[in-house]
Amino acid sequence: MGSAQYDQLFTETFEALASGSYAPLDLLTKWWQTAESSDIIVDHRAAALATFDAESGYPDSRIVYVRPPRESGFEFYTDRSSVKGVQLQKHPQAAITMLWHNAWIQVRVRGDVTLTSRDSDLAYWQARPVENRLAGYSSQQSQAVASEAERDANFAAAKALYQEGDVPLPERWGGFVLLPREIEFWRGTDHRMHRRVRLQWQGSEQPNLNTADGWSHTLLNP
Ligand SMILES: Cc1cc2nc3c(=O)[nH]c(=O)nc-3n(C[C@H](O)[C@H](O)[C@H](O)COP(=O)(O)O)c2cc1C
Repeated sequence: MGSAQYDQLFTETFEALASGSYAPLDLLTKWWQTAESSDIIVDHRAAALATFDAESGYPDSRIVYVRPPRESGFEFYTDRSSVKGVQLQKHPQAAITMLWHNAWIQVRVRGDVTLTSRDSDLAYWQARPVENRLAGYSSQQSQAVASEAERDANFAAAKALYQEGDVPLPERWGGFVLLPREIEFWRGTDHRMHRRVRLQWQGSEQPNLNTADGWSHTLLNP
């Protein structure tokens, strides 16, 4: 996809918003699929996840792999006892920012976070390579470890225990899903005259990504 086509993506998005007949999920999916099929965008699933650390009062952020947008939002999988996992369970509001660097595209979402179902956790766990499952099983993410040798020994012990590759899903491991109530599509252009449009959920009930009803949109200065 050439640069003009990414501009076209923004133009079509804005036209869809102006027409009033769109579903935010369709727009998110179109942007996601554009990134997925692009030959210049690298690692489009890697996104910055920002959380709030209620104890210190400081925001926190790190990269996670997010799953394609769905009606329920953006899922990501992790150790729920990690720093992010604890922060999210205490303060279940978060933001995800996708940077599709070479295409000069940014997609931002903010919203409420809930736990994924245990069935989804298990399905995702089982789809991961055995080494990843062993790593997830043998190390409690974000906790201190005395040495890399100790970390490796824990991995080796798990490997010896589950030689058949039947590594069980740890209780602490699973997913979260962020349901956007605010979405921003951003496309960079020359001379800093970037193109930005923000969608905001206005309803009092849970945001519905499947219909334009209840969403407003605003063109923003760069
Ligand atoms: C490209 C990339 C993808 C990552 N994907 C994940 C992920 O899907 N889940 C995860 O828990 N950590 C992932 N990480 C590691 C996190 O950035 C982070 O180090 C880890 O989750 C611990 O964060 P926390 O201490 O804030 O909980 C990824 C890192 C990178 C650079």
